[in-house]
Amino acid sequence: MADSWKTRTKLVHEGSRRSQYGEMAEAIFLTQGFAYDSAEQAEARFLQSGPDEFIYARYGNPTTRMFEDRIAALEGTEDAFATASGMAAVNGALTSLLKAGDHVVSSRALFGSCLYILEEVLTRYGVRVTFVDGADLDQWRAAVTPGTKAVFFESMSNPTLELVDISGVSEIAHAAGALVIVDNVFATPIFSRAVDQGADVVVYSTTKHIDGQGRALGGVICGTQHFVRKVAEPYLKHTGAAMSPFTAWIMLNGMATLDLRCRAMADSALTIAKALQGHPKVPRLIYPGLPSHPQHDLAMRQMGSGGTMVAFDVAGGKEAAFRFMNALEIAKISNNLGDAKTIATHPATTTHQRLPQDQKDALGITPGLIRLSVGLEDADDLIADLMRGLDAA
Ligand SMILES: Cc1ncc(COP(=O)(O)O)c(C=O)c1O
Repeated sequence: MADSWKTRTKLVHEGSRRSQYGEMAEAIFLTQGFAYDSAEQAEARFLQSGPDEFIYARYGNPTTRMFEDRIAALEGTEDAFATASGMAAVNGALTSLLKAGDHVVSSRALFGSCLYILEEVLTRYGVRVTFVDGADLDQWRAAVTPGTKAVFFESMSNPTLELVDISGVSEIAHAAGALVIVDNVFATPIFSRAVDQGADVVVYSTTKHIDGQGRALGGVICGTQHFVRKVAEPYLKHTGAAMSPFTAWIMLNGMATLDLRCRAMADSALTIAKALQGHPKVPRLIYPGLPSHPQHDLAMRQMGSGGTMVAFDVAGGKEAAFRFMNALEIAKISNNLGDAKTIATHPATTTHQRLPQDQKDALGITPGLIRLSVGLEDADDLIADLMRGLDAA
């Protein structure tokens, strides 16, 4: 790797390992294990593996390693561990670190499965969890104490696109000696420099923008070599969270176009948000890239963009939202995001269905709310599609 490489160059070349054949494309090492020249070599490798030595695909694999090196370089962290899904990454980062009696502070506005880990899994093992309104630094100040082991938040929340001030929360957490773990999925590694802003550990569902074409589940934990190899890896490798080499190959290919795709999707998201603004059937529009968004300044400071997601209420509640979705011809009704194909999601009945009504109310997950993941189609076609949906609503 060349330290001076800029993002797009890293996304294409970083971490490549070539076999003796000099293949152009990254090779898929579809193998569970590796043969040793001798019993002594096997013994030595189990004792201490070198940087280009592998033992078993659950521990590491050359294709997976290429992906880990590439994403660590992009993120600006010393190392990374690739996992089978985004949730394996979130769970691995938290569970590998915490033990009974530890205290975690987390923002309340979280993806349902992240909330499940904090509310149901960690508490079952005696971890104390305090939830705060992530946008309110005073609540973080009040909740983080000298005994707090970690703070966790989505830098841009799912589905209402609420931003958490990474620098502000990191300052509070670090003053108390707590580790800052950020789920950066919605913000994307292109727009959010979470580590530069103070995060210690950054996790992604690579299922989203990094694959970018809705093909494979994956995740990754990025952090210091100490955190990745000494804290997270022992837990991940023994509990079977590893990403498959085939998935790593898909993710490597996704990364080559990640910057171009995220920027094109964010440009379209802004165009769409402007087209929806003031529409009589859209009483609430959430896009941090619009100056009218209450966190617009933070979004520009933290991401330099409003991102690739738009959320809005369709007037008339659930029935109108369903009529809107059912009339769409280009955007698909689904629940992934960051895909080349535009996706419309109704969080209240799908991704966030599990939440009790009072939590939905607190998080702004209204019956009319639509979460739109803007894809790579022509923005004019997408606007025509959305207008068709709103006419039908
Ligand atoms: C913010 C956030 N974190 C984590 C995940 C989980 O990712 P995966 O589905 O790859 O496990 C998601 C999935 O939607 C998400 O939106």
